[in-house]
Amino acid sequence: MDPLWLMKTPASFMATVTVLVLVLFCQGTLSQSSSYTLMVPPSVSVQQGLCIDIPCSFTYDQQKYQPYKLYGYWLKNEGEEKTYFSYSRPLVNGRLVATSDENLRVHSSTANRFRFTGNPDQGSCSFRINDAALQDRGTYYFRTEDRNDLRYSYQPLLQVLVTELTQKPEIQNSTEITWGKEVTFTCRAPGTCSGTPPRFTWTTALESRQRWPNNYQHRNGSWTYTSELTLKVTLTDQGKPLTCRVEYPAVGATVESTTYLPCRPRNMKINVSITSPGKPESSSHEKDLVAQEGDTVNLLCQVEATPEPTMTWMKANKSLDSPVKGTQHWFNLSKIRPEDAGEYYCHAENWLGSNSKVIRLNVHCKK
Ligand SMILES: *[C@@H]1O[C@H](CO)[C@@H](O)[C@H](O)[C@H]1NC(C)=O
Ligand SMILES: *[C@@H]1O[C@H](CO)[C@@H](O)[C@H](O)[C@H]1NC(C)=O
Ligand SMILES: *[C@@H]1O[C@H](CO)[C@@H](O)[C@H](O)[C@H]1NC(C)=O
Ligand SMILES: *[C@@H]1O[C@H](CO)[C@@H](O)[C@H](O)[C@H]1NC(C)=O
Ligand SMILES: *[C@@H]1O[C@H](CO)[C@@H](O)[C@H](O)[C@H]1NC(C)=O
Repeated sequence: MDPLWLMKTPASFMATVTVLVLVLFCQGTLSQSSSYTLMVPPSVSVQQGLCIDIPCSFTYDQQKYQPYKLYGYWLKNEGEEKTYFSYSRPLVNGRLVATSDENLRVHSSTANRFRFTGNPDQGSCSFRINDAALQDRGTYYFRTEDRNDLRYSYQPLLQVLVTELTQKPEIQNSTEITWGKEVTFTCRAPGTCSGTPPRFTWTTALESRQRWPNNYQHRNGSWTYTSELTLKVTLTDQGKPLTCRVEYPAVGATVESTTYLPCRPRNMKINVSITSPGKPESSSHEKDLVAQEGDTVNLLCQVEATPEPTMTWMKANKSLDSPVKGTQHWFNLSKIRPEDAGEYYCHAENWLGSNSKVIRLNVHCKK
């Protein structure tokens, strides 16, 4: 087979053919059959408005070519669309989205968002997508060229998935919460690279001051986007909500989170259900209950508290179970006997205080 014939075929076809030819006819010369390789994840996924760094490396036939400088190109397969590199070169399949070649302009839909971050001379074809948009979904391929004869489009393809923005901002108090004093809350936006900074909006019924966004860059180049809210909290503000909304203006996506000011356990409720063999279940919120010997009694205690309290059931000042973190807690009694009668306390506790409630269980003996 004439190698010149290969050079005249379209680039993407050539990639496949060259690999096939080398595999079929050059067995034993392993160094050659692996001279054109691409290492890139088969697919990557990013949420709308966020960004992603895609690591990539490649090799070419270094015995045949000693380029003075290599250029890298990422193209997106977009219908029949083709890209024009220069007069002297054939059209290339796809839409140019990122390149290390400053003489070329990338497609307007990805300009300023996609960045070729690797150095092709060092075998790197890494690139970054900032402000990911739903229209970035699709398959992409990498191509390298020098200013002479080296032109090669690689397999495999890279699949880019862009999903709806579901990651939520994180809200944390950055100072101790002390009633009667000022407290600062920090909201951290999802995403860490250098796209368009998101916009923050806080919502609260309390009097507060929003500080300027406090965005900072890490040593590895990634970013953290935060906003701070300072407010004076008093005991009567317990449990009040604070909402932080983060908008990604480049794609118009918004996410929000709500946090609640700490509050001691309150609004405790006990739900009781009694099941007698052969009878439908009955539920009640009564303080005084009557069950028949042999019944099943399920006690459910529910409470509001922030942070989550530890909860236990007690009878006659003795714990019936070990404390569990949460805002609801069960205690179940099956086949009850007369000695199960008595006062059952539900107890909930966090660092702000505690709460408890009692119900009285009476057991009627079987006749
Ligand atoms: C947040 O508030 C709680 C309660 O005052 C405190 O224990 C915690 O240390 C605070 N977090 C920070 C980062 O200051
Ligand atoms: C960069 O550093 C930050 C903070 O140490 C870390 O959260 C982030 O995951 C790092 N990003 C990358 C791409 O390594
Ligand atoms: C609480 O009790 C009501 C009846 O008062 C019942 O319909 C409901 O299912 C109970 N809730 C739970 C979580 O058991
Ligand atoms: C439970 O303990 C309290 C004091 O902690 C005491 O006053 C009460 O009588 C005790 N109740 C029972 C049923 O032992
Ligand atoms: C108690 O019973 C309820 C309802 O049948 C069940 O959902 C719960 O897991 C049980 N809890 C325990 C601790 O047995």
